[in-house]
Amino acid sequence: MTGRPFLLALLLLTACDDLSMSQQKRYDVYRRAALWADGAAARTPPDGTVQQGALADEAALADPPPVDAALLQRGRERYEAICTPCHGLTGHGDGMIVARGFPRPPSYHEDRLRAAPARTLVDVITNGYGTMYRYANRVEPRDRWAIAAYIRALQLSQGARVAELPGLAEKIPEERP
Ligand code: HEC
Repeated sequence: MTGRPFLLALLLLTACDDLSMSQQKRYDVYRRAALWADGAAARTPPDGTVQQGALADEAALADPPPVDAALLQRGRERYEAICTPCHGLTGHGDGMIVARGFPRPPSYHEDRLRAAPARTLVDVITNGYGTMYRYANRVEPRDRWAIAAYIRALQLSQGARVAELPGLAEKIPEERP
């Protein structure tokens, strides 16, 4: 018998707790709120508010990582996953989505894009360009540099001069008159 009031109290306490969890005093985001002069529950962050992780992202964007085999490999993997549907495996702008009617991107092998600094490629990924969407929320800053490095490798693969390739000139028979 002695246990019964205790059990009852326990049940009531649990019930009270459930109630406080489901009925909190809070505003839903887009509701009116009399508390503030403009009557909006959604508040604008104070001036100077920095999004979590934004400073680290900015630092990673400012400093290109050293280009090594691992970075190129990562760039290739990300490029093939994200950019090839439009830009194509070799960067000629002939991806599958383009074949289905999406506007055709320029080829990376145009002189203008060959001459563009790596930072420009990174900026296009970050901010988008014309009809191309921005990929800032899908490609980490370091991966943007990795992709830019891989695009450089693609450009070289489609337009290197024999004289610039170490040891190759000697292997190719001399031109006959
Ligand atoms: C959904 C299709 C699509 C995807 C995916 C895409 N792009 Fe593009 N990209 C375009 C189009 C279209 C243009 C041309 C836009 C214009 O000129 O209006 C373009 C242009 C560019 C340019 C050239 C900008 C210039 O100065 O002319 C670069 C560099 C580029 N994209 C890089 C990338 C990279 C890197 C990725 C992957 C992270 C990517 N794109 C993913 C469609 C795409």
